[in-house]
Amino acid sequence: MKIIKTKCYDEMSRHAANIIAAQAIIKPTSLFGFATGSTPLGTYKALIEKNKAGDVDFSGCKTVNLDEYVGLSGDNEQSYYYYMHKNLFSQININPANTHLPNGKAKDIDAELKAYDALIASMGGIDLQLLGLGHDGHIGFNEPADHFSKGTNCVELTEMTIEANKRFFASIDDVPRKAITMGMREIMQAKKIVFIVSGKDKAEILYKSVFGKITPEVPASILQLHPDVTLIADEAAMKIITEKGLA
Ligand code: GLP
Repeated sequence: MKIIKTKCYDEMSRHAANIIAAQAIIKPTSLFGFATGSTPLGTYKALIEKNKAGDVDFSGCKTVNLDEYVGLSGDNEQSYYYYMHKNLFSQININPANTHLPNGKAKDIDAELKAYDALIASMGGIDLQLLGLGHDGHIGFNEPADHFSKGTNCVELTEMTIEANKRFFASIDDVPRKAITMGMREIMQAKKIVFIVSGKDKAEILYKSVFGKITPEVPASILQLHPDVTLIADEAAMKIITEKGLA
C-alpha cells in the first residue's frame, strides 16, 4: 500500500482529485467507483474546479457508487443518489446516463443486487475505486462481520454507523436501518483504489485497517491484500501510524 500523509483535509482532497483526474486523462472511458460521506466532499469540489478549468474531461467516463440506503428514493435529500448528483454529477460534464447507484427503492432487492454486479461486469470492472473509512472499519456499507461479503449485498447497519450517520437526518429514527452495498469482490477487483481518510477520530481504525490483522471484523483490512491501493490520509488520521513509526 502506498501511503501519502498530508498536512490537512484540503491537501488530502487535492491529492485524491489529482489521481482521479489523471485516471480520466489516461483513460477517458474509465469506470470510476465513487463513495459518499463527508470525506470525499473536498475531492469532489477539487474535481469540479479541474473540470470547470478545462483540465479534465468526464464526458466519456462512467461511474458506479458503492452504496445506497434501502427505502430512500433519489429525490430524498439523504439518499446517496441525491448526494452524488448535488455534489458532483450536476457540476461536471459527465453524462448522467453513465452514472449508476444501487436502487434503494427496488421492489425486488435480491434482483437489484444481482443486477448491480452484472452492471459493473458489463462495463468491464472498475478502473479506480474511491473509498472512505467508516468508524467501525466499514468500506461502502460492508460492516464488521464473521465473513467477507462477495457480491453486492443488502446489510443491516450497525449501531455505530447509524449513530455516525444520524447527523445527516432530522432524527436518529429517520436513519434507514438497511443499505445496499457493493461487496468486497467488486471493490477488490477494482484495478486501482484511492483510500481517503481524515480526522483524529479515524486514527485508531485506520491503524487497525492498514497494519492490523486482516479480518472481516475490520472490513477495510482486506485492502492490505490489494496490489494497487494509495492511502491518502491527513496527519490527524495518521497519528497512531506515525507514532508507531510505521509511516
Ligand atoms: C458511510 C458510507 C461510507 C463512508 C463512511 C464514512 O457510511 N457508506 O462509504 O466511507 O460513511 O463517512 P465519513 O466520510 O462521513 O466519515
